[in-house]
Amino acid sequence: MSYNLLKGKRGIIFGALDENSIAWKTAERVHEEGGTFVLSNAPIAMRMGSIKDLAEKTNSEIIAADATNIEDLEKLVDQATEILGGKIDFVLHSIGMSINVRKGRHYTNQNYDWTHKGMDVSALSFHKVMQVLKEKDAMNEWGSIVALTYMAAQRVFPDYNDMADNKAYLESIARSFGYFFGKDNKVRVNTISQSPTPTTAGKGVKGFEAFINYADKMSPLGNATALECADYTISLFSDLTKKVTLQNLYHDGGFSNVGVSQDVIEKFE
Ligand SMILES: NC(=O)c1ccc[n+]([C@@H]2O[C@H](COP(=O)([O-])OP(=O)(O)OC[C@H]3O[C@@H](n4cnc5c(N)ncnc54)[C@H](O)[C@@H]3O)[C@@H](O)[C@H]2O)c1
Repeated sequence: MSYNLLKGKRGIIFGALDENSIAWKTAERVHEEGGTFVLSNAPIAMRMGSIKDLAEKTNSEIIAADATNIEDLEKLVDQATEILGGKIDFVLHSIGMSINVRKGRHYTNQNYDWTHKGMDVSALSFHKVMQVLKEKDAMNEWGSIVALTYMAAQRVFPDYNDMADNKAYLESIARSFGYFFGKDNKVRVNTISQSPTPTTAGKGVKGFEAFINYADKMSPLGNATALECADYTISLFSDLTKKVTLQNLYHDGGFSNVGVSQDVIEKFE
């Protein structure tokens, strides 16, 4: 269903790799709601994924940018405002990667070069995106910026590895940068803490299958899907949530406030 929530709004969507990506679903929903946008991803993702299909489907252009590279981000923001014909109203940061996770290095035995790289890609890139947008005065008043996170920033999930620390850093950047963006430009900044979701990044976490089933059994409403996450994100891009900022918003079917569920108890009886 479409509510025309984003009619006339322009944005940048980072992180659509394939049709499972949360950013992919969000791009489709933004398009349905009347928003226009530029898609961006790392140059290597252009070759691996199928972002071109999404661009065709949503009438949007793709601009390659490594989100850790300031020059790439500057070019992206310049080109995006030119292509879209004005300042930006919404930005989705849907980017995450840990080399320690990918290569199976244990949390207590990290390769710190990989740790640095993962932190840069998964957390600091959010600061870089916002700093470039702010320096270029590229955001419209009442614009909305959203990044995706996970509850391992607050609680221990052993196999989430160094991504837990990256997410804690990401959430802190949302608050700290969001303060200045709010004061100076009336732009809001939030993170959405999403349920485990079967995407390329999600499935890269060790034990993902068992883990997603566990989360589903713990959540009174069940796990939130990527499409449901897209719907929530759209509400945050719309004018219906203008005073929501500096928040980490759980989108997890209730998981984060459940101690134990009846379903899980029964497994131990
Ligand atoms: N899947 C889950 O279980 C889950 C749960 C909570 C939060 N998240 C978060 O959601 C976000 C999106 O992930 P997803 O699950 O849709 O997986 P995904 O693999 O589809 O998306 C991750 C994206 O990050 C991009 N990326 C990696 N390095 C980059 C760089 N240097 N510059 C620009 N882009 C880069 C990838 O190309 C990819 O498009 C991530 O922040 C992830 O941590 C995922």
